[in-house]
Amino acid sequence: MDLYEYQAKDLFAAHGVPVGSGQRVVTDAVAALDAAAEFGVPVVVKAQVKTGGRGKAGGVKVAADPADAEAKAEAILGLDIKGHTVRRVLVTPASKIAEEYYFSFLLDRANRTFLAMASAEGGMEIEQLAAERPEALAKVPVDANEGVDLAKAKEILAAGHFPESIVDRAAEVVVTLWETFVAEDATLVEVNPLVRDPEGAILALDGKVTLDENAAFRHPGHAALVDTEAEDPLEAAAKAKDLNYVKLDGQVGIIGNGAGLVMSTLDVVAYAGAAFQVRPANFLDIGGGASAEVMAAGLEIILSDPDVKSVFVNVFGGITACDAVANGIIQAFELLESVNKPVVVRLDGNNAAEGRRILDAAALPGLQRLDTMDDAARTAAELAAKGT
Ligand SMILES: Nc1ncnc2c1ncn2[C@@H]1O[C@H](COP(=O)(O)OP(=O)(O)O)[C@@H](O)[C@H]1O
Ligand SMILES: [Mg+2]
Repeated sequence: MDLYEYQAKDLFAAHGVPVGSGQRVVTDAVAALDAAAEFGVPVVVKAQVKTGGRGKAGGVKVAADPADAEAKAEAILGLDIKGHTVRRVLVTPASKIAEEYYFSFLLDRANRTFLAMASAEGGMEIEQLAAERPEALAKVPVDANEGVDLAKAKEILAAGHFPESIVDRAAEVVVTLWETFVAEDATLVEVNPLVRDPEGAILALDGKVTLDENAAFRHPGHAALVDTEAEDPLEAAAKAKDLNYVKLDGQVGIIGNGAGLVMSTLDVVAYAGAAFQVRPANFLDIGGGASAEVMAAGLEIILSDPDVKSVFVNVFGGITACDAVANGIIQAFELLESVNKPVVVRLDGNNAAEGRRILDAAALPGLQRLDTMDDAARTAAELAAKGT
């Protein structure tokens, strides 16, 4: 889960990372005026959207007085920044900046380690820096068991060519960033820019944090950071039922067991659907168990998607054999009051013959069973095209 800048800075502040003196998130321009009057000017008005490059897109502006803060907020609210509509802005005192740096900790999956990235050349977007001046960006692996103490922090900063005069102060901030990264189970903590002010103080003026959702169970507080307004309602409903669901933009609803099978099903449906101008509507992996309840929960989510015109259930019986899956589908149809869209089922694997017999005998309304994945995908695509 990605956080907004203001949420990232709240976490930073809680772990002792210096973030400046106050911030307020507002959803209307008059509240921005009030905040500016309270903080004292100048303030910075910043679009809160989960994408970088807000500054360049006109989403970060300095306001000289409260009325100006209102005008700037008015201009920023409603902006579209890389496909994200600005619904709230952050008002925060403008800091004096002597120099801008870049610093981040992240999970380096490819190398199975944590990584620190540091550069004395901050401000610029990191992708651009990495592409144009890779030698200016230090990448230092961090051993999970050793972590980051002051000595390690200084090593990273020296590699990033931070000026010697500020390394001691910056190292203390880096250690608190590492503490934030570990304590919050983050996979990314990025500060761009980390700045030095004219008095030599180090401040995080921007913050980007990604939290590891697999660790949510040990962070009850993280649930409150979810932006329920911006969440896709179907994805939120699926998450509430512990389903691995991702909404896509097509018309053929997909249910499968096992992420690999579901991925291939998406490919096969996309291929078969090309002739009918339909595409997969979602990814949904109901996992190995494939019980009636899970099948019903999955079908319910997919059937409630107005874009869905047909559903393809593609199950490979493994530990849960096909006869159990077939019974699960029958019970799911009973649990759901009405299945009002055509459902195509392909069953294969462990005990397939018996599973198919059970399903055929049940003769569920609107359900067709086909033997192969290709035939089933084509039929589901054709039915979706008819329904649109
Ligand atoms: N509180 C602040 N005080 C002064 N300048 C700021 C402040 N916040 C941001 N800026 C300036 O605006 C630039 C862009 O802001 P930033 O938060 O990094 O957004 P983004 O990375 O999305 O463009 C920063 O590099 C910095 O120069
Ligand atoms: Mg930034």
